[in-house]
Amino acid sequence: MATEKTPIVQYQDVNKVYRGGNVAVEHINLTINQGEFVCLIGTSGSGKTTTMRMINRMLEPTGGTILFKGQDIHQQDPVNLRRHIGYVIQNIGLMPHMTLYENITLVPKLLKWPEKKRRAKAEELIKMVDLPVDYLDRYPAELSGGQQQRIGVIRALAANQDLILMDEPFGALDPITRESLQDLVKNLQQTLGKTVVFVTHDMDEALKLATKIVVMDGGHIIQTATPTALLQHPATPFVRELIGEERLIQARADVTTVGAIMLKDPVSITPGKSLVEAIKLMRDRRVDTLLVVDDNGYLKGFIDIESLTRQYAKSTAVADIMQKKLFYVQESALLRDSVDRILKRGLKYVPVVDQDNKLKGIVTRAALVDMVYDTIWGESADHSEQAPKADAEPQVGGDQNG
Ligand SMILES: Nc1ncnc2c1ncn2[C@@H]1O[C@H](COP(=O)(O)OP(=O)(O)OP(=O)(O)O)[C@@H](O)[C@H]1O
Ligand SMILES: [Mg+2]
Repeated sequence: MATEKTPIVQYQDVNKVYRGGNVAVEHINLTINQGEFVCLIGTSGSGKTTTMRMINRMLEPTGGTILFKGQDIHQQDPVNLRRHIGYVIQNIGLMPHMTLYENITLVPKLLKWPEKKRRAKAEELIKMVDLPVDYLDRYPAELSGGQQQRIGVIRALAANQDLILMDEPFGALDPITRESLQDLVKNLQQTLGKTVVFVTHDMDEALKLATKIVVMDGGHIIQTATPTALLQHPATPFVRELIGEERLIQARADVTTVGAIMLKDPVSITPGKSLVEAIKLMRDRRVDTLLVVDDNGYLKGFIDIESLTRQYAKSTAVADIMQKKLFYVQESALLRDSVDRILKRGLKYVPVVDQDNKLKGIVTRAALVDMVYDTIWGESADHSEQAPKADAEPQVGGDQNG
């Protein structure tokens, strides 16, 4: 999108030292732009909550400056500031003695919206989260945890604030409710164009929701990146560990080309060579198939040890016994798109060609299995059964649909 980035929150070398000298965060420099979904992620005690709470002056920095819409928040009345910033706290935080209607319209009431406008807003919002309008008269205790959290989310949207802070809002929910609320929040954020700052220590949640992920450790920002960039270039071993090897492998398959993992210089032979030479080459290189390329390096076919022994007596040249039908893949193809086809065919290896059909290398089944088997197919029994035994199939062969 060509929209210009408008900073909504800017941290400028912000520190927070608690009484007693406990340094919670140090040298925080971060810009949060309008419309971004920023996830702060890190281990417990890394400073996420502290970083977030300084935005609406629930905590005061001990050093540095924070700007909200370009203005130093230190110069602003904290109560007024908070009315412009929605906040969803951990474990929902609905007022138990207030109805859902009163809970949702808390800030609009403080902002002195007329009753009619408040009612309309509350009804509009509760419909957005698929709850019946008559629930507005209920008390929080009459709702399930997931329903309460829906109300917590829309309460933060009620006053039309641009910026919403959420501190592990879904931590206490079961995985299914959690996922549906993630979808809800992402959807609301996108359709309403809100800016969200969201604390989590769940990497899947961050990868799903964020447009920008901020990784924190020991009170410092370690890396700020889009989910894709984070997966592709984790800045430190700590970030790698936080992401986890499985996700990194999966992400690699999504961007890695066949060419990047192929073995170069495969054993090959030209069609004019004799079968004696072919046998010698196979023996020397300890292989049971040879790829056949012409003098210009174009892939023509393959020969294998079985047909070679069978036809040895009546043929003389490689060209006589060469099988022309073979499965190959393009060097530029994404591993993600090719891996399934390669593995399903049960081939031990597949030749890799460039766009002119010149042989460039091979991808071995072993290398693929090492890299992606578990993450793409998981441990599903179905899939492992589908993978045929390698020795039951020709090693290179099949139709030409590289
Ligand atoms: N009121 C306080 N007084 C003193 N130290 C505090 C206070 N609040 C937090 N800390 C310390 O500041 C550091 C950062 O705390 P913070 O709550 O920001 O971490 P967090 O990343 O949100 O952790 P969690 O994932 O457990 O919520 C921790 O070392 C914590 O012990
Ligand atoms: Mg916290």
